[in-house]
Order: sequence, then C-alpha cells, then structure tokens
Amino acid sequence: MTIQQPPQGMIDNHEGDEPLSNHSDNPSFQQIFEKRLSRRSMMKGSIGTAMMGFFATSSYSALASAGTSSRHTPLIGFEAISVAATDGVSLPKGYKHQVILPWGQPISGNLPAFDPMTNSGLDQAHQMGSHHDGMHFFPIEGQDPYQGSSEDGLLVMNHEYVEPRFMHASAKGQALSRSAVPVKADGQRDADEVLKEIHGHGVSVVRMKKQADGQWAMEADVRNRRIHGLTEMEISGPVRGTDFVKTRFSPEGTRTRGTLNNCAHGVTPWNTYLAAEENWAGYFINHAEQPREQSRYGVAKEGSGRYGWELADTGADEFIRYNVTPTGASATEDYRNEVNGFGWVVEIDPFNPEATPVKRTQLGRFAHEGIVFQPAVEGQPIVCYSGDDARFEYIYKYVSAQPYHKATAGGHLLDNGTLYVARFNEDGSGDWLPLVFGMGPLTPENGFNSQADVLVNTRFAADTLGATKMDRPEWGAVDRKTGEVYFTLTNNSRRTETDAANPRVENNWGQIVRWREQNDQVSAIQFEWNLFVLAGPESDSELAGQPLDGGSMFNSPDGLWFDADSRLWIQTDMSESIVNTGPWEQFGNNQMLAADPENNVIRRFLVGPIGQEITGVVTTPDQKTMFVNVQHPGATTSPEDFAAGQLVSHWPHDGAAYPRSATIVISREDGGVIGA
Ligand code: FEO
Ligand code: CA
Ligand code: CA
Repeated sequence: MTIQQPPQGMIDNHEGDEPLSNHSDNPSFQQIFEKRLSRRSMMKGSIGTAMMGFFATSSYSALASAGTSSRHTPLIGFEAISVAATDGVSLPKGYKHQVILPWGQPISGNLPAFDPMTNSGLDQAHQMGSHHDGMHFFPIEGQDPYQGSSEDGLLVMNHEYVEPRFMHASAKGQALSRSAVPVKADGQRDADEVLKEIHGHGVSVVRMKKQADGQWAMEADVRNRRIHGLTEMEISGPVRGTDFVKTRFSPEGTRTRGTLNNCAHGVTPWNTYLAAEENWAGYFINHAEQPREQSRYGVAKEGSGRYGWELADTGADEFIRYNVTPTGASATEDYRNEVNGFGWVVEIDPFNPEATPVKRTQLGRFAHEGIVFQPAVEGQPIVCYSGDDARFEYIYKYVSAQPYHKATAGGHLLDNGTLYVARFNEDGSGDWLPLVFGMGPLTPENGFNSQADVLVNTRFAADTLGATKMDRPEWGAVDRKTGEVYFTLTNNSRRTETDAANPRVENNWGQIVRWREQNDQVSAIQFEWNLFVLAGPESDSELAGQPLDGGSMFNSPDGLWFDADSRLWIQTDMSESIVNTGPWEQFGNNQMLAADPENNVIRRFLVGPIGQEITGVVTTPDQKTMFVNVQHPGATTSPEDFAAGQLVSHWPHDGAAYPRSATIVISREDGGVIGA
C-alpha cells in the first residue's frame, strides 16, 4: 500500500476554528441600533446597569448585585494552580488522579486487546472510541443523579472524532497531519481502516465501579456497549417519514445509520443520555449543486469528505453513503438525503442495551454542541437549550407542548413542542423567536413549506427570524438552584462588527453569557441577560469590573457544567493550531477552572497535557469523585515529527506507541468534596 497525503479538499474542522456557514444578512445589533459600543462602555454602561437592576429585583436576589455581595460560605476552597505546558496533569495541592478508559480499551464482546497496529474495524466496535468529549455518570440505580450510588454507575461519554495517523499500521512513518488519512495509490481507502474510523466515533457506555483500594475499574456488564457511526437509529419528530430523510437504506424515511462528531451531551429529566451531533457536515461530499440544507451547513463540494470514507475500496453501501451527490433516478435509489439524517440530538437509554437510539428532530438541525435542561417540575413543560457551534450561529431553546409528569416522562416530550432561537437585545433583554411553520415569516412566501422544512433548515429559519449571530456557542449549563443559564461563546476571530452579547472584534478569547427567563418562568418567551466574564489575558479580560489575574485568566471557554453546589466548572479549548504559540503561550496547555458566580471568583483547578483540550466533566452524587476527559493529547505533533516518531506527547504515559484520549478520575486525598 502506498501512502499519500489526503485527497485535495479534505477538510479538518478542528484545525483552527469551526466552519463558517452563516452568510445570511440578518442584521447584527450594530445595524439595528446603528451605533457602536466599545467593550468597556458595554460592560460599564447600559448593559451592566440593566443587568444589575435585573439581578437586584429578581426573586433570585441572593445572586443579586454581582461584584458587591458575597455568600456566607465560599464555594471554592482550593488554591489556584499556575498555567503549565508540561505533558502531564496538574491539580491543586491535596488532589490526586487516576487515568481510566483510554481509547481502545476493550469494553464489550470478546474484549479485543488494544493494539493500534493490528486491531481491525470490528475490534474497534468493542473498544473505547477515540477523542472523549461530553460525559455523564449514571448511578447504577438509575434514578437520581444527585442521590444515587457514588461508587457504581454507568459512565457514558461521547467520542467526537478520530486521529487516523494513530489508528493504522499503514500510517506509521508517513508525514501525516492529525486530520490526514492513508490513501491507496489508486485513490481509494482501505475499507477496514474506514470501518475502524467509523467505529471510533459515537458513544461508549461502561459500567465503572470503585474498588476497595479506592481505584475505579470497569465491571463486565451487559450494558457495556458502543454506539457508533453505523449503529441503526430511529428518526422521530416532525421530520420522520418526510421526503427529506428518504434514502435507499430507509425508503420510508424513518431510520438512519450512525451518529457522528458527538461533542457535548445532555441528560434528560427521565435519565437518558443525549449525544449532540456537531461538525457532521464535513463528513459528506456533494459534487453537484447543493440544496440549502447542505450549503447552509458547509457540506463539501470539492475533493472528499472529512476522512474520505466514501472512497472505501469495497464500495459498500455503508461507505458510499457519505457521497450525497445524486446518482439514482429518485431519492430512494441513492443517498442524496443521507446528510439530512445528521445534525440532530440523539437519545440513548444507557440502561437498556437493546434500545435503539432515536434522533429527535424537533430539537432542530445544526452543529449541536450539547443540550442542557432546566430542572423538570411536575405539571410544567420540559425546557432545554442548545448552541450551534460555528462562527455567527445561534442559541436555541425548546419548550415541550406536553407537561412533565414523572410517572410517564420519556422521549416523546422531545417530539412535540416549540423550538425558539435567541435574540439578545442591546438593553439586556432578550427574545425567544419561535421556529414554527406558518408563524411570522416562516411561510411558503419565504420558502418554508412545512415544519419539517423549518427543522431540516433550522439555520435558515433562524436567519429569517433575525436571531443574534454569536461568537460560537459551545456548552451551556443550568444552575438548578436558580434556573440561570450560562453559555460559553468560545471565540470568533472573524468578528468585525460587535453587538452587546458579542462585544469584541477579532474575538480571540471568548466570553460567557448568562440569562434568566422572564419572571423565572422557564417557558417564557423573553429573558434578561448579561455577560458573566470576558475571558482573556489580564490586559483584555473582565470579571465584575476587574481583570482576570494569573490564577484565573483563561481563554476559549468550551465545556461548562454546574455541580450540585452551583460551582461552575469551565473547560478551555484553545485550538491545536494556536495553543502554546504567540499570545496564547501565556495560557499554557488547555485547562479547567472552577467559578463561584455569586462571588465572582474563578480559580484554575486543572491543567492538562500537551496538545489536548479538556472537555467533559461530571461528579458522582456525593461530589467526592470527579470524571474529566482529556481529548486529543499530542495533536500538535507536526506531520514531519510524526513521520520521524517524534511525538510532542505520550500522555497518559502508559507505554502505548501513541498518546490517546482518556478519562481522568479526580479525588481528594482527604476524601472531601471536589472544589470545596
Ligand atoms: Fe466540539 Fe464545539 O466543540
Ligand atoms: Ca466543545
Ligand atoms: Ca471548542
């Protein structure tokens, strides 16, 4: 086999930033209000004042007057650690960690031992996937994440993507970038390598149990399983059965195969796991004229899909479907609609290994980073939020039509309801704009013909409603004690015009926005918001009127999670293309910080190894064990260094030939609550 560089046009959505697909001209606030606000005037002027007023008059006024009050008991009890650029994990004094579940660890079936040089595509379907991301610990009783077992549970996590050069014997010694794939001399790809990459994506469900010595270990369990890029899935909600999703595989438009690029996740009030599909568009190629449901999402037109899976040398159906160029006489004879089966939120029941995952189309189709829920209240609608992570995309909210009743709650609550998109007004107010066919401009006159049409084209519908173009919405988090919602806006180097929620041009550092629903009614169609923190170095950051300092500065916030005590955990993702270079050098490696938003405290808690991002965080119900994911260590190794075997990272230093993504388990030497 001859190895070549990847086909021309192969794209890598993680080389720098997310793909830019929003070419709509819906106005920014700048244009609406025809005035420019500097960052400082925004923070110290009308918005800050408006939000202070909001907090002060809110029924949640314990949180009020940011920057002027303090809670009685400080939430954060550790000393901030320094930035670092070493190939290890740094934690505060008194904390320790264990590495578990690295990519390739066998978890099911005949438990094929990890060996990247010899493992087959089928082996990978029984091993941990790669590039660990969003994650949740389901106590084994399966009832209450705040009360269940803290020593025995199903750890469920996403595997966002793969790094093929670490996966195949054929890649060894070749000058491959982290996104490049081995290609045969005839331009095709080895089908088993493709299968291995497809199986390396998706979700893992693993039963993990605390042992007598305090270490965590996998337990054999019928529920241990992989969901991956070929797992059959149901399509539910308004798009099910419509022409948009009819394919040769599913002429009825009711099923599809696989989930891809699962970034962050969600946990429903009925204790199922949701995997969000983020940068799925790049896996597909359409050489012909593209409909808007492809072009608005960035499906490639030239070259190949992200990993060239459509080039697999067997030409099998499960591979050619990534080429969505029409070839048949109708949609049920080819895969022109295959890509419409992606871009959704996928519901998985980790407790039932026989359950078919379900794509919930009423939650919209976009680059879902993740999804977070308001606490469910008996008799009230279910409410959740999801961000679309690409430059100038939007934040969405879903409100179920039917009320929540604990006894009957289930996925059907995600199939029937209203999807909204956010407009952040300059005065600190906000509006949820309904994405409902026939309402407002979402009519046939404007090119919308059904609710399924609105949902398959969620981005275009949101453009039409005039939603606010954000600086790449990543994770959200809901403070269950207050109902406040926080979202990370990671960065946007291409911003040229600011608005109140996205106040910096060429935004290299990112910010965290937060809001409260009007009158604290979670189904409200208006909200009030402000910025919690402008991330960045001391010279260009702000937290309650003060710059961040050496123990709190960070940039490119991505992962975000509230623990049961309302500590806000912030994870960073400086992209591989810039981390440890130029002005980013001062931040060291990607890291995790803990925040006490009431007291405006942020402290650095963890720094990860070289080349990775920190993503995914959850604790056991007793908060004494924390699970955190380390994704793509060593990704900053150059093609030339890879060829020479000079890797920048060998984390987790387990003797394997290559660095690999893994989960770390953090505990305190004194057995206390993490972060306190
Ligand atoms: Fe997969 Fe937006 O991070
Ligand atoms: Ca992310
Ligand atoms: Ca990111």
